[in-house]
Amino acid sequence: MIVALLTLEYITNFIARRCLQMDNDARQYAPSAARNRDPIWEVLKPHLPSRGLVLEVASGSGEHTVHFARASNSELIYQPSDPNPLARASIDAWAEASGLANIRPSIALDAAADVWPIERADVVICINMIHISPWSSTVGLMRGAGRMLPAGGLLFLYGPYRREGQHMAPSNEEFDRDLRRRNPEWGVRDLEGVADLASQSGFGPPAIAQMPANNLSLLFRRTA
Ligand SMILES: C[S@@+](CC[C@H](N)C(=O)[O-])C[C@H]1O[C@@H](n2cnc3c(N)ncnc32)[C@H](O)[C@@H]1O
Repeated sequence: MIVALLTLEYITNFIARRCLQMDNDARQYAPSAARNRDPIWEVLKPHLPSRGLVLEVASGSGEHTVHFARASNSELIYQPSDPNPLARASIDAWAEASGLANIRPSIALDAAADVWPIERADVVICINMIHISPWSSTVGLMRGAGRMLPAGGLLFLYGPYRREGQHMAPSNEEFDRDLRRRNPEWGVRDLEGVADLASQSGFGPPAIAQMPANNLSLLFRRTA
């Protein structure tokens, strides 16, 4: 009888602890981040400095930040950001759970804003934001990255693009229609338009890497 009661108490406490953990856990899970983080890392890794500051714009759940920070030299510091407070809570929860010392607390950064809450970075990365935000966010991203980065500094973008006015696959075209239905200001952008904007902010033409699921990585370097 005593054993049965103790077992019951143990089980009740276990369930209560799990529920509390779930209630307090702000971590969000983005299935696309789990799929694309390794292919992105393979492209990004050779271009990163061994030390310095990586600013991530639109970190979302924070899973990329943690994945990249874990795989990086501990002297390469990551600064995640997102305008959405729920995203920032998720980023900070992932960072805390990782135990990594090279991730700073997330900051509220709206790419479209004229002033950003950070002045310098050695690298700026932005994954899957350009098509899921108004064009003004891309304009702001280019201006902000142009201000942030030193000569030679890397701006890394990842997402779907049209090339010479054409979608790269029927699935991208359908995705574009869906985005525009959800918000007429969103949509898959023309690579040439994004590169044009980048050049106005002091970047050279991008190196382009074909990625899985008809996405591209674009690597822009700040010219002197
Ligand atoms: C599709 S999610 C991508 C998140 C993450 N980078 C990923 O790939 O999993 C788009 C993110 O862009 C952020 N976002 C939208 N507009 C933004 C803006 N103007 N400035 C910065 N981030 C923005 C959203 O809050 C959201 O977290």
